[in-house]
Amino acid sequence: MEIRIFNNYEELSKCAANEIIKQVKTNPTSTIGFATGSSPIGLYKCLIKDHKENGTDYTEIRSFNLDEYYDIEKSNPQSYFNFMYENLFSHINIRNKNINIPSGHSKDMNEEVYKYNQLLKENSLDIQILGIGSNGHIGFNEPGTKHDQETHVIELDQQTREDNARFFNSIDEVPTHAITMGIKNILDTKKIILIATGKKKAEAIKGMVNGAITEDLPASALQNHDNVILFLDKEASRYL
Ligand code: F6R
Repeated sequence: MEIRIFNNYEELSKCAANEIIKQVKTNPTSTIGFATGSSPIGLYKCLIKDHKENGTDYTEIRSFNLDEYYDIEKSNPQSYFNFMYENLFSHINIRNKNINIPSGHSKDMNEEVYKYNQLLKENSLDIQILGIGSNGHIGFNEPGTKHDQETHVIELDQQTREDNARFFNSIDEVPTHAITMGIKNILDTKKIILIATGKKKAEAIKGMVNGAITEDLPASALQNHDNVILFLDKEASRYL
């Protein structure tokens, strides 16, 4: 794993965004995996700024998102569908038909899982953006998830629901389940960039980089990938 440590979030976001911009410019038909949550918001702001100022073109870019809450409709303000349009897709020229976000509100979730997984198999991802949970989850692959697991529906950890309660009126409103790419799908990506900031992430970062590869810490599976760049601030990297 390549580790890059930054003094501030702006600089970190700019450098992480440059990895995406480089990819898009080198191969304008790239397939990119996106994440939601607080960590990549600065990166998305940089992509929007670059698109407006330099015209970086996303018309032939295909996207796949990591996960979506179950049982939330697209139109719900807390859906990851809504998050992606608000924070990125509405502000760049990516085509709706090239955007893939798993549905957390399908009548038949087994079929949705199967369909999304098939799409991932048919479209190899050039680059995947990741955050990390304070419990070491990547996507919504919670501790205990097998490292060869593909797309699935998972029950969210209490820790994850508490961490994400900040986006909802109360913890009772935080969904209990989600649909997520599996760790296997993530490991199949050609390149991974993971963003982590703040001391709440420091233990998980330490385990991911220096600990054993274990199902107890899903992010430790990334040790088995040969093209991972970590974008960390001082606090997230304090135990390295
Ligand atoms: C989001 C996702 C999650 C988040 C993680 C960190 O699509 O899959 O793994 O990346 O929960 O969230 P933040 O960035 O809000 O701390």
